[in-house]
Amino acid sequence: MPKVFVFDHPLIQHKLTYIRDVKTGTKEFRELVDEVATLMAFEITREMPLEETEVETPVQLTKSKVLAGKKLGIVPILRAGIGMVDGILKLIPAAKVGHIGLYRDPETLKPVEYYVKLPADVAERDFILVDPMLATGGSAIEAVNSLKTRGATSIKFMCLIAAPEGVEALQKAHPDVDIYIAALDEKLNDHGYIVPGLGDAGDRLFGTK
Ligand code: PRP
Ligand code: URA
Repeated sequence: MPKVFVFDHPLIQHKLTYIRDVKTGTKEFRELVDEVATLMAFEITREMPLEETEVETPVQLTKSKVLAGKKLGIVPILRAGIGMVDGILKLIPAAKVGHIGLYRDPETLKPVEYYVKLPADVAERDFILVDPMLATGGSAIEAVNSLKTRGATSIKFMCLIAAPEGVEALQKAHPDVDIYIAALDEKLNDHGYIVPGLGDAGDRLFGTK
């Protein structure tokens, strides 16, 4: 089974409170999501493999470490996932960025795919799939399907807020995908919104309704 990691770092939890706050406007919301994405990227990369190299300091030649292993790909689920990309790129600027466009049909709550563009070397990359919200899990499941269909074999899913229903559904559909979240909320309401959640992530990020 995949593992679920809750990033309970005080800075992440503090900023998440203001992200949730209905009084937080678009500009501040966007800045806070960006900051939390950076902090989460720091935590999610903790296990990245290192290899030894040599470096000549002004004093002497010494052994030191550099990143090893597969290159990274970041894939936001459009729209709201876009809000997390720059924050991650601050720490991993060389990562390639793919995009998967999905929206949730408001009636059926089922995801509808409308756009996919990924790096050419999909099979050679470790992917971090990002979306602020994991609600029913339909969008994340479909996005992982899309990545796997195109050859991805290593995928982590990172979001700000998850509902228990979404975590369970994603775990069941994709037991190989570990899930990284800032908060596990209580439940979904009758409209498929996370309670207490933060409302509609895309609308709050982009100032739409
Ligand atoms: C939101 C959110 C996720 C999805 C989560 O996107 O950003 O992608 O809903 O819900 P699920 O787990 O039930 O699938 P939305 O469909 O509102 O599209 P948007 O980002 O374009 O606003
Ligand atoms: N999508 C959102 O943006 N918010 C929710 O609470 C659920 C799905």
